[in-house]
Amino acid sequence: MKKILTAALALLLASGCNAQSKQENINTMTQSKTNTMNKIVIFFSHAGDNYSVGNIEVGNTKIVADYISEITGADQFEIVTHKYDGMAYTPLINLAKEEANKGELPPYEGAAPDLSKYDTVFIGGPVWWGTYPQVMFTLFRDIDLAGKTVIPFTTHEGSGLANCVGDVKKAFPKANVMKGFSIYGHEVRTGKAKVEKWLKSL
Ligand SMILES: Cc1cc2nc3c(=O)[nH]c(=O)nc-3n(C[C@H](O)[C@H](O)[C@H](O)COP(=O)(O)O)c2cc1C
Repeated sequence: MKKILTAALALLLASGCNAQSKQENINTMTQSKTNTMNKIVIFFSHAGDNYSVGNIEVGNTKIVADYISEITGADQFEIVTHKYDGMAYTPLINLAKEEANKGELPPYEGAAPDLSKYDTVFIGGPVWWGTYPQVMFTLFRDIDLAGKTVIPFTTHEGSGLANCVGDVKKAFPKANVMKGFSIYGHEVRTGKAKVEKWLKSL
């Protein structure tokens, strides 16, 4: 079974995921205004069966989102769908691949957040097939980030930021999209210092 999972992830990583060699991508932007702005973290994270970390109760990206909120005081909006609840890893990667190929936009629970009071929006999710999960693009369709500072981040198992920053730029051409940050999913539970270092550099 482990061999199948390993082969499946190797296939993902070899198939145009724009793998980055760095474990994290420290944002070197010089802007320091983020300390005084109204901030929110918008994220998606999948708890359950996952590569490398096994069956997890709290998703990797949620852990990073929580670090960001704890350290910066940012509010949160979690993108929730029950579409993948209880799915094993292999069927999930197959479904996610199909959704990405078809450009499907699965619905999320509830309504889109009112972002009018926020100047800075962190956007985070796992890398799924080289970009964010499709349900995140459903939310992107429903919000407007024109004029806001947008800071993407990912958790991943080898692809780094993959296409996420470029895809966020495409979704929000009038936003000021920064360089972004990525961290291995299996590192997040011991990786608070890395997140803190990145946030201090903003
Ligand atoms: C459907 C699916 C597709 C994935 N595709 C990739 C990928 O293309 N590149 C990569 O590095 N990791 C990939 N992964 C691994 C996840 O990005 C990684 O485990 C991430 O930390 C999961 O975050 P989460 O627990 O917040 O959902 C994939 C995982 C799943 C479940």
